[in-house]
Amino acid sequence: MREYLHTIPMPHNPFIIALDSNDPATVKSWVNSFAHEAGLVKLGLEFFTMHGIAGVQKLELPCGLFLDLKFHDIPNTVKGAIRSAMATGCEMLTIHASGGHSMCKAAAETAMEEADKRNTKAPLVLAVTLLTSLSQQEATQIGYGNIETQVLKLAELAIGAGIKGLVCSPLEIAPIRARFGHDVKLVVPGIRAQSGGDDQTRTLSAAEAVKAGADYLVVGRPVTQAQNPLEALKTLRHALS
Ligand code: C5P
Repeated sequence: MREYLHTIPMPHNPFIIALDSNDPATVKSWVNSFAHEAGLVKLGLEFFTMHGIAGVQKLELPCGLFLDLKFHDIPNTVKGAIRSAMATGCEMLTIHASGGHSMCKAAAETAMEEADKRNTKAPLVLAVTLLTSLSQQEATQIGYGNIETQVLKLAELAIGAGIKGLVCSPLEIAPIRARFGHDVKLVVPGIRAQSGGDDQTRTLSAAEAVKAGADYLVVGRPVTQAQNPLEALKTLRHALS
């Protein structure tokens, strides 16, 4: 039977490190220094917009990739984007749940179909609920009500469309677990030892997020911008052991 990545258990190492730079040499040096200490590494819009699939392939990553491009478009376009993204061999990729039921369903199905064609494992398609940077004030400006209510609505929509993993802030882990149980994978950015200080507003520490029920933790600047990124990552891992 084919194996799908959404069925894999919580990894021994839940840290996904966000390599947010458009400079391949910088990304390469991060990868060289801590790829073996990370569960997965994440490449997003900053790197991908400049270097694309070829740039990702050139990195020859020694570990698994989370390609975080947060697709949000009509279903047909998202299908095509997912097929293209899978040329990177990524283990996880992202769409916005707010793209709607048909888009989420198309994304989940396309990942499976394309994996069958390529004879590879299907990546875990994650639906982003509400960006961890959004405060209640900003969410209200967009037209959303209470953040927790909105996240639960989007989670329900995505899960109902066949999505097996969600991106949420640490503050919504517990309500999502209470409503939807443990079958859905939760990938959680907004990991900070202390809140405030940058654009992330809905944050908790790594230990708090794991205690609340996170499967994976996405950490960028606290590691990559530390004086010693490898030590910073080891310290984070140690805090969980
Ligand atoms: O540097 P920092 O730890 O804030 O990095 C968080 C990473 O997670 C960034 O690459 C950001 O794009 C991504 N992300 C996020 N919030 C989401 C989805 C993804 O911060 N809801």
